[in-house]
Amino acid sequence: MDKILRQVYAEFRFPVGIMTTVVKKNNGMLIKGDLRGCTISSFRVLEDDKCFFSFNKTRIMASALDKDFAFHYLISEQMELAKKFSLNGMSCEDQFTDVKYEMRNGLPVLMDYHSLVIGTICETLDVGDCLVYIGKVEFAECLKDQPILHYKHRKFS
Ligand SMILES: Cc1cc2nc3c(=O)[nH]c(=O)nc-3n(C[C@H](O)[C@H](O)[C@H](O)COP(=O)(O)O)c2cc1C
Repeated sequence: MDKILRQVYAEFRFPVGIMTTVVKKNNGMLIKGDLRGCTISSFRVLEDDKCFFSFNKTRIMASALDKDFAFHYLISEQMELAKKFSLNGMSCEDQFTDVKYEMRNGLPVLMDYHSLVIGTICETLDVGDCLVYIGKVEFAECLKDQPILHYKHRKFS
């Protein structure tokens, strides 16, 4: 990316959350039925019932995602959870060890989130290093009236 743009983006404070899914198929270390999660800042809700997000192709999540996903905006107290789900190369089992979640609509839904979006992928665009996903929002819920967790200058706040 252009150096100037990098500097500009460094000044942005991005809302951050965790996307979870059930792995789509046998794929190397991934086994059908495994749960997968990843901390992302690319998730945005668009007008009406559409949303988008992106995954670098190297992310395990990029090969794990099939159709359905749950995206959780987090509160500041969930910083450690966001850090855990941003670690590289964790096994599916380790990711969810000691993490409180329940299965809803066939998806792992974390607890105590700020807000939740459950959706299904309608379109995937290959844009080089990344896959950009357009999703349809099926369900949305807000639990907390507290500030959302953000990320800026390599720090959560
Ligand atoms: C604040 C923050 C935001 C992130 N946003 C994204 C994102 O939008 N897309 C993406 O592909 N990776 C993003 N990442 C990186 C992934 O969280 C991280 O590399 C990933 O968990 C690596 O996992 P893997 O080994 O499961 O592929 C972000 C990381 C952080 C700390």
